[in-house]
Amino acid sequence: MQPPAVGKVMTHTSPILKIKDLSVSRGGKVVLYEVDLTVRKGEFIGLVGPNGSGKSTLLLAILGVLKPQNGTIDLYGHKPMSRNTHGRIGWVSQAAAVMPKNVRITVRELIRLGTLNSKNMFFRRKSIHREKVNAAIKMVGLEDVADNDIARLSGGQRQRAVIGRALASSAEFILLDEPLVGIDREARNSLLKLLDKLCHDEDKTILMVSHDLAAIRQTAHRMIYLEESIRFDGVTEDFPDLTTLAGLRGIEPVHGHAHDKKEFTLVVNGPDETPKTNMEEE
Ligand SMILES: Nc1ncnc2c1ncn2[C@@H]1O[C@H](COP(=O)(O)OP(=O)(O)OP(=O)(O)O)[C@@H](O)[C@H]1O
Ligand SMILES: [Mg+2]
Repeated sequence: MQPPAVGKVMTHTSPILKIKDLSVSRGGKVVLYEVDLTVRKGEFIGLVGPNGSGKSTLLLAILGVLKPQNGTIDLYGHKPMSRNTHGRIGWVSQAAAVMPKNVRITVRELIRLGTLNSKNMFFRRKSIHREKVNAAIKMVGLEDVADNDIARLSGGQRQRAVIGRALASSAEFILLDEPLVGIDREARNSLLKLLDKLCHDEDKTILMVSHDLAAIRQTAHRMIYLEESIRFDGVTEDFPDLTTLAGLRGIEPVHGHAHDKKEFTLVVNGPDETPKTNMEEE
């Protein structure tokens, strides 16, 4: 069996996440089934799929918020939400960057919240916290606005601040759910650059959901197309273009050996099937 295609440079790093035969139900309906996925340290993975295809559900299952109906999730050798995974996982959602107007908090204060976890809250010295917060502010490039109120920031800067909070918590594996929504092209590009830099220079691992196919393809090493189960998992350059994606359905689930692109079976739509995707491609 060939090793799975896991991006250009990451075939030799250790797996941090191993999902086997995962099924998750919500509201009595199976929304994910037979999901097998291995993520290695340092990867930048783009997770795409139509609305309601289970992307956020997959992230919530990895975080341990939703429990599997079937299958296993092994995160750093432990179950999600166990003591040993605490603080190692960061979650950034679009909603997380939208602060209620009446909350007055500066960038520094928000990022400092990331250091409040049970591991270090009582035992670490304040100076260590301060260093971590400063380092996180620097990593996300918000030094100039560190003492500004979050409400005065642009959407892109707010998104960076939320990523900064995850970094201050020492998160090694960052899950982002639609972080590019509502930010302009320039902010989007610089956010993608930042994420890329976090992978390469800080050894972070990124799993990012986005509908912005052009943007995600430009940055991710590896792409996953999810529609209840994984229909494509491979290096970004092998990802089918949008037209092909929209015109094709029923790609055989990726199990074991099927990571190899040559083994995908693409089945053309029947005449009555309307291809649907809400993914944007520039
Ligand atoms: N709280 C919930 N209770 C019941 N069903 C839910 C709940 N949240 C989501 N679902 C259902 O689970 C399925 C997967 O939803 P999910 O939010 O994971 O999709 P998604 O791929 O993230 O979609 P989007 O691109 O719109 O964010 C959908 O059919 C959705 O209706
Ligand atoms: Mg979602």
